[in-house]
Amino acid sequence: MRVLSGIQPTGRFHWGNYFGAIQQYIDLQNEEESYYFIANLHALTTIRDSDELKTLTLEAATDLLALGLQPEQATLFVQSDVPEVSELTWLLMTGTPMGLLERCHAYKEKKEKGVAADAGLFTYPVLMAADILAYDSNVVPVGQDQVQHIEVCRDIARSFNHHYGEVFVMPDAKVLEASAKVPGTDGEKMSKSYDNTIQIFEPLKPQRKQIMRIQTDSRPMEDSKDPETDHLYQLLSLFASNEEREEVAGIYRTGGFGYGDIKKRLADAAESYFSDARARREKLEQDPGFVQDVLSEGAKQARAKASEVLDRAQKATGLVR
Ligand code: ADP
Ligand code: TRP
Repeated sequence: MRVLSGIQPTGRFHWGNYFGAIQQYIDLQNEEESYYFIANLHALTTIRDSDELKTLTLEAATDLLALGLQPEQATLFVQSDVPEVSELTWLLMTGTPMGLLERCHAYKEKKEKGVAADAGLFTYPVLMAADILAYDSNVVPVGQDQVQHIEVCRDIARSFNHHYGEVFVMPDAKVLEASAKVPGTDGEKMSKSYDNTIQIFEPLKPQRKQIMRIQTDSRPMEDSKDPETDHLYQLLSLFASNEEREEVAGIYRTGGFGYGDIKKRLADAAESYFSDARARREKLEQDPGFVQDVLSEGAKQARAKASEVLDRAQKATGLVR
């Protein structure tokens, strides 16, 4: 069983990325053979500054290692270090119906807003399919918003296999239902695009301030409130033990509390939850050579697998090397 996932280096990671995706990577690394990569080719559709992309790519790798990815357990690499994936993308592109890509949300949303989309954004799901298929991946841990892209990958693989024989392995998405949609500071889905994120490694003081500014409703303190529909409670639940979650749910139902107290609890809980990761990150920052070595070793392993799969696909289509 092989697990694979990619994450774009388009900004520093936030709680939504962690609970929706990264936490699963870390949990799965001990049980399965796993490949994780920094999707810098995908990030090219939004970042056009070379220094920024380089820095964010390295930061993303450092963050993943600090959060608990272990190079002995998981293969960590940068997407563009495996050029076989780009070659495979073209093979897949020739069999991908336009209609399939027109339905994909990233492109559709841009088009609906009247924003000009480039061909990179339009064909983004094909590159993602190549990422997945190039490593014979069985399981792809992601947040809810990526499930559509994995369906597209399955459609592309099915059609390719139909034409050329059993070349690709069918992957399945793996979504953690409990944290499939982490809310942001405004109660909407936490996302860089909505400017409502709380970054994992934000220095503690500004992070605390940000938590204290999470939007809440203006109902009187004494009112009883439903915890399940409250985004502050949902955020606290991500960090809290079962007992604390029950206790706070009780406080909501009884009423007579201030949101400020819950926010303080949230800030404390987040600080202690990520304290080991923060310490590891500080150490890694002192040793950028280590991160580079991990990525080069990862790229070597990933290329070995991807070139085997590309070879299979090339032979199947009649491209003779
Ligand atoms: P963003 O929306 O901030 O640009 P990305 O699209 O780069 O984040 O997401 C990277 C990974 O994190 C994906 O697997 C995505 O599903 C997951 N993810 C992002 N935001 C959330 C969220 N609010 N809740 C759950 N998972 C999320
Ligand atoms: N598109 C994904 C995102 O925005 C990142 C990604 C690229 C990915 N290739 C992938 C995720 C392959 C899983 C598998 O989050």
